[in-house]
Amino acid sequence: MRAGVFQFNPVFGDKKANLDKIEQAVLKAEADIIVLPELCLSGYQFTSIDEVAALSDKIPESESIKRLAGISEKTGTYIAAGFIEQQGDKFYNASVLTGPEGVAGVYRKVHLFFEEKEFFTPGDLGFPVFSIPGAKVGMMICFDWLFPEAARSLTLNGADIILHPANLVLPYCQQAMITRCIENRVFAVTANRTGREKRGGKPELKFTGESQIVDPKGNLLFRLGKETESVQIIEIDPSIAGNKMITDINDIFMDRRPDVYTNQVQRDERTG
Ligand code: ACM
Repeated sequence: MRAGVFQFNPVFGDKKANLDKIEQAVLKAEADIIVLPELCLSGYQFTSIDEVAALSDKIPESESIKRLAGISEKTGTYIAAGFIEQQGDKFYNASVLTGPEGVAGVYRKVHLFFEEKEFFTPGDLGFPVFSIPGAKVGMMICFDWLFPEAARSLTLNGADIILHPANLVLPYCQQAMITRCIENRVFAVTANRTGREKRGGKPELKFTGESQIVDPKGNLLFRLGKETESVQIIEIDPSIAGNKMITDINDIFMDRRPDVYTNQVQRDERTG
C-alpha cells in the first residue's frame, strides 16, 4: 500500500486555495492513502466563533467535502483531512476520510488543545475504525497523541494504521509517536503543517512540520523537514500490524491486565 502525507502551510480562511493545493498534491502523489494536516481547509488560529462558523463544513453535503470526495474518486486515493465539522449549533475539530465511494469515515477530536476549548465541542464519536482495501484505519488528531488511550483505543478497535492530522506547536509529539507505535504495534502516519499564524493580537503560533510515518516496531520510515512543503509517499505493508507478538510468548494485547489498572481515579480524587 502506498501511504503518505502532504505537509503544507494552509492559508487561513481560504478554503478554495487550500483545496486547490490539496488537489495538486493528491494528483501528484499517486497514493492509496494520504493524510493531510489538522484543520487544513480553514487554518487554525480563530479569533471568534463567527469565524469558526463561517469556515465550517457539514458532512457530507458541504462543497469542500464533496470536492475532497471528488478528488478521491478521480484518483482512487483515500484522503484523511482535518476540517471544522458543523452539526446543529456545535462545531467539532474533525477529520474526514474520503474514498472513491464518498465519505468513508469521520472522527471528532476528543482531547482539545489550549484555545480550541473556546470554540469546539469535544469529540463524541469515540475512536472508530474503518475498512479500506488492504487495511483497517482509524484517526486521531494532533494533541490526542498525549493521551496513550487514544492510540490504544484505535488499536484495540482493530486499526492497522493510525491516520494523524496535526497542527503541532509543542516539540514532543514526533518522538512520542514512536512509543505509541511500539506499544500498540501499529503504523502511524502523522501529517503536520508548516508555517506560522498570528491573528487578532494573539501570540504567534509556529507549527513544527516533521511529518512522519512510524512502523509497528517503532522504525521511523521518514520524517520531513520543519519547513518543507511536500508530498511524501512510501510503500508499507499494513498486515504486519496484525502481529502483536513482542516475543514468542508475549502477545502485547493478551498480556494486558485491565483488572489491575487503576484507571477509575480522577485527578481531583488522588491522594498524597
Ligand atoms: C494541537 O492539538 N493542535 C496542538
